Amino acid sequence: MILPIEAYGTPVLKKEGKNITQDYPELDQFIANMWETMYEANGVGLAAPQVGVGIRLFVVDASPFAEGEELRDEEREQLIEFKKVFINPKLEESGEEWAFNEGCLSIPEVREDIYRQEEIHITYFDENFKEHKEFFTGLPARVIQHEYDHIEGILFTDKLSPLKKKLIKGKLNNIAKGNIQVDYKMRFPLASKKR
Ligand code: NI
Repeated sequence: MILPIEAYGTPVLKKEGKNITQDYPELDQFIANMWETMYEANGVGLAAPQVGVGIRLFVVDASPFAEGEELRDEEREQLIEFKKVFINPKLEESGEEWAFNEGCLSIPEVREDIYRQEEIHITYFDENFKEHKEFFTGLPARVIQHEYDHIEGILFTDKLSPLKKKLIKGKLNNIAKGNIQVDYKMRFPLASKKR
């Protein structure tokens, strides 16, 4: 089932998600819905708060990035079959910061260069509640960091300079009000009832 994606301004996007246990109700169905919703919107990642559920879970399929021309071999290998469910993750970052032009399904039509550290160690549970400890660098790390931020209640626009924030304020207000064209299902916090 395709779920509506919560737009910028929705309170759940600013809240820290809660850890879940293996007996979380209808977890398999929820994960299936997350995949379906993400692919419908042509996303490479989707976090539970983006569909209005405040739990520490996100899905990533970064394989579309494996086509990129400027990738190191290590990154490309990690990206080719990169389809994973992350539950209750813990993240440690290291290395130099680098910029990448990020976007977000909750913030359509806004893209900005965001600085993040290049390496991560992540501990998480998969959809079968098997624990994993993994290392990622470059683009795969980047996608995980973006989604991880979502379950911490952080959006990429929160990382912009005060000046940049000011410049895109109008755009963000329009997103919250639903005054945008978007070709996937969304829910807008400030949409007027008439729409
Ligand atoms: Ni996002």
